[in-house]
Amino acid sequence: MKAAVLNDYGQPLSIEEVRIDSPRAGEVKVRIGATGVCHSDYHLIKGEWKYGLPMILGHEAAGVVEEVGAGVTSVQPGDHAILSFRPACGICRLCTLGRSVMCEGYTGNRFMMHDGTARVHRNGEDLLVMARMGSFAEYVVMAAEQVIPVRKDVSMEVLALIGCAVTTGVGAVINAAKVEPGSSVAVIGCGGVGLNVIQGAGLVSAGRVIAVDLLDNKLEYARQFGATDTVNGSSGDAVDQVRELTGGGVDYAFEVIGNGKTVEQAIQMTRAGGTACIVGMAPQNTSSSFDPLIFVMKETKLIGTWYGSARPRIDFPRLVELTMAGKLKVEELISRRYSLDEINDGFDRLGRGEVARGVITFPT
Ligand code: APR
Ligand code: ZN
Repeated sequence: MKAAVLNDYGQPLSIEEVRIDSPRAGEVKVRIGATGVCHSDYHLIKGEWKYGLPMILGHEAAGVVEEVGAGVTSVQPGDHAILSFRPACGICRLCTLGRSVMCEGYTGNRFMMHDGTARVHRNGEDLLVMARMGSFAEYVVMAAEQVIPVRKDVSMEVLALIGCAVTTGVGAVINAAKVEPGSSVAVIGCGGVGLNVIQGAGLVSAGRVIAVDLLDNKLEYARQFGATDTVNGSSGDAVDQVRELTGGGVDYAFEVIGNGKTVEQAIQMTRAGGTACIVGMAPQNTSSSFDPLIFVMKETKLIGTWYGSARPRIDFPRLVELTMAGKLKVEELISRRYSLDEINDGFDRLGRGEVARGVITFPT
């Protein structure tokens, strides 16, 4: 099959012919229908995260179940599925708490199968796969628990985006921060994930929703997804502008970039009693600083959330229903479609901030 392989940091992905095995017990083979171009893949391409090479990237995806391994009863061939980029052993402390995003039941390599072996190979060499998925490929073999079946009348592109950007952004609002109706919200970073924080805030009837970015085209997208106000951080201090708009700060500030400086801004633009929520995933070994006194005197809360603190088996179908009911805009997030061969163009456009979201589609 064809796959996009990261061979060296800072280099384009290389489209190569690789071999994929059949699923073993407890595993599922999925034919990829669509997969999103997300900044998390880009962190790896740029070498901001290093977890080993060569690796097939891609973690925001949906497809059709092709084959199931022994003992798999949760899906069958022909099922449409959204792929979860986190495993869930189902029995560890965090899975039991309903916080399977942080599952600690597996201690092996996060870029291989649970048994420590690889299913994708190139000339006899094992390839790592991002998030035990590696969806920049025609097929994936994954643990059955990461393959979540959903209704069949939804486009693969929409399902793919629910697999990361929508769940991460909307989940940050509803599962992690639990934003109350009427409260004020700031969202720093209006890319694929940030726009979903914005529409999540709309979904729960937040009051003012202030979008912050450095690019006017992103702020225009933000308005389309429900922002009531916009702040361009390159024309004056973002914190001052948000404080001025709100008379002192917002109830909730979301950082959706993965940048130590904008995490500091999120803390600073939160009003007394407010919550700053880190959604963006920073490069490895980044740090931020804060004034500890404000945490006492303003009772500021600082929280983080991974993958929208989702329970994929519950949240994916709910987000699909909300989308089909017209309460979430997902199709509208797609600014560009690419073939797998065009994937590097997709990352160049993401890097330049040209798109809300780009999606790789596969011929059916
Ligand atoms: N101030 C404001 N906005 C900024 C700044 C800044 N200093 N730096 C970057 N941005 C904006 C960009 O202009 C862009 O609109 O942040 C946005 C990032 O969007 P994308 O590149 O589309 O990234 P996305 O896929 O949304 O991911 C955001 O979430 O899951 C994590 O790993 C992911 O860390 C990444 C983050
Ligand atoms: Zn992602």
